Amino acid sequence: MAITYNAENALFRIENARFSYVFFVNSKGVLQHLYFGKPIGETDLSSADLGWDWSKTYLSADGAEKIYEDNYYNDRSMAEVPSHGLMDKSGAQFVIEKSGGVTATSFVYKKHRIYDGKPKLSALPSTHGDDAQTLEITLDDVYGNERLLLSYTVYGDLGALIRNASIINCGKTEIRVKRAYSLGLDLPRSDFDLMHFHGDWCLERFAERKPLANGRFTVESTMGRSSHEKNPFAVLCDRHATEDTGEAYAFSFVYSGNFTLAANVDKWRRTRVLLGICDEDFSFALGSGETFEVPEGVLVYSDRGLGGVSRTMHDLVRNNLITHKKAKAARPVLFNSWEGCYLDFDTQSILAYAENAAKIGAELFVLDDGWFGKRDTDCSSLGDWFVADGKIDLKKVIDKCHSLGMKFGIWFEPEMINPDSDLYRTHPDYALGDGGYERTLSRHQLVLDTSRKEVADRLFKDMSAILDKYEIDYIKWDHNRNIGEITGSDTPYGEVCHRLILGTYSLLDRLQKKYPEIFFEGCASGGGRFDLGMLYYNPQIWTSDETDPVQRLFIQYGTSYAYPLSVMGSHISKNPITSYTAKGRIALFGTYGIEMNPCLLSESEREEVREVNEIYKKYHCEVIQNGDLYRLASPFEGNYTSMMSVSKDKSKALVLFANVLKENNRYRFIKLKGLDPDKRYSNSHDGKIHDGRYYMQIGLNFTAWLEEFTTFLVVLEEA
Ligand code: GLA
Repeated sequence: MAITYNAENALFRIENARFSYVFFVNSKGVLQHLYFGKPIGETDLSSADLGWDWSKTYLSADGAEKIYEDNYYNDRSMAEVPSHGLMDKSGAQFVIEKSGGVTATSFVYKKHRIYDGKPKLSALPSTHGDDAQTLEITLDDVYGNERLLLSYTVYGDLGALIRNASIINCGKTEIRVKRAYSLGLDLPRSDFDLMHFHGDWCLERFAERKPLANGRFTVESTMGRSSHEKNPFAVLCDRHATEDTGEAYAFSFVYSGNFTLAANVDKWRRTRVLLGICDEDFSFALGSGETFEVPEGVLVYSDRGLGGVSRTMHDLVRNNLITHKKAKAARPVLFNSWEGCYLDFDTQSILAYAENAAKIGAELFVLDDGWFGKRDTDCSSLGDWFVADGKIDLKKVIDKCHSLGMKFGIWFEPEMINPDSDLYRTHPDYALGDGGYERTLSRHQLVLDTSRKEVADRLFKDMSAILDKYEIDYIKWDHNRNIGEITGSDTPYGEVCHRLILGTYSLLDRLQKKYPEIFFEGCASGGGRFDLGMLYYNPQIWTSDETDPVQRLFIQYGTSYAYPLSVMGSHISKNPITSYTAKGRIALFGTYGIEMNPCLLSESEREEVREVNEIYKKYHCEVIQNGDLYRLASPFEGNYTSMMSVSKDKSKALVLFANVLKENNRYRFIKLKGLDPDKRYSNSHDGKIHDGRYYMQIGLNFTAWLEEFTTFLVVLEEA
């Protein structure tokens, strides 16, 4: 890994074993992008500067041939920081309104420094890690007093480049930041496929791939959270790229609120990608001397297809994003009460749940929604984070769990409030939504204005009181609606959405500093806030409220393009569509857990769950939680889903296979990936031993008559 600056041609080169990223300072001080792709070392890139080369000449009055001086402002050059209000109309990275209504910006180079390490952002989650090098460039706007601090960080030989920026108002008067994207990337081609991940509640992150066309394609959320509907992750890849071959560029965002991820193909057949906070509902005042910190943007390059993108993202998330110190350790078998009883429980029934959960091997008992205030239906009590008289004997439940050898976890939905709550009755102003208009309820609830310090302080105090009083090892942090009205806050309208997220991050930060042992799981009506911002605080996120295992094949497969299995909450549920064994196999390709009424299980069903637990305990941490994922067959493309995970030392692997429709006898070999060709592995499918070459060239033989929804889970171990 090395970041270098060549003063002779003012060239910055960021390079490791996976990629080179090159740009330079042109004669006017403007940064121009040159190259992002496979490592190219010292290769001469002077001819890659097309914008410059296309300069036109003209004959001046005295007959001399001259070059148009304004060329660097034209719209052809590959920009490193696309300007605003000048000739380039392919999309600006920053839009700033200054006094006198000036909105043009052109940032020019002032100085730079290259150093080991990577600073944390002050109010936002950010990547981190020891083996880091950072380039920081200071640029000043030629039209005003705005300063830009750009940063580029690379971690060892990981194929990811972390981009960040801060805007500093060095002038004496207030400015208004109307757009502050985290990155812009120009690529000198447009023959890409674009892949993005869209969905809905219970239908999260369905993969869609289509050729990029002329014009602008945007993946965006204006819902106040990253959303079920669109995920802040997308890939541009060669049209012929596969799981294993071809070039691919991926874009991701360390942020949980509104976002825009846009790819614009212009008349030059250049593709400009922009990624940042969505500028609808965004406008941020910056007083003299103040700084606006943008969230981090992640760029990934892979010359090993989509699988290469995913494995880079997975390593980044596990090694350089998640902060909990125990995230890599084996996690207890989690039992969750929600699908078993929803809100319909009392102390006695939960004690029976705990006893029966322990019998099927649970090691962490999570009491979901319904333990607080007067929460007997979902119409009431969000905001009242205390145990009301007669609701439940929480201490008794926790003591029981501990006596059965289980840890105890609990559910919160801190950012929400029901109008029917003590908190709302005393502080209706804590909820967003203008009093003069009818507020939009969603799941009978309103959104708390966490942009206000007193609201966040109140939540911190109430949650701390519970965490101080009871022995709690785990928190499920939920968020069950989108933001509707943005009005009714003391915070200026254009700052509300961003400050809500800052308030949430700050609350998470304070609680996690105070209770560093507690393990957090994120949730937002399932996977409505599945993003790198949330993963910084939550080493796992409930992937979807959909627990039908067939649907889960699609949801988990789609989610795996960006996110590692170690973060994907997945449970064996009560869904009757198939056996507990089949549901367990699919749940193993995620965090794994159990969620149903454990008192209703037959002895043979308990045995099925226990058997899956055994595999979980024996292999999951090494092979799935911390291993490398290879996708083998996509449910989006055919009748099978197959994927495998290989331990980092390549000594063990787990392979999942499932079909949806019934199939007659036919050849059906699934070629494995990621094994050591020279190692010999036993496999639990036919009990034979072969070398890795055999499994990768010939494959596991699943030739058989397949009933609908047959699943196989094959364990490979070095013989
Ligand atoms: C959301 C979550 C569920 C459950 C309920 C409780 O829908 O996704 O897992 O926690 O809330 O209300």
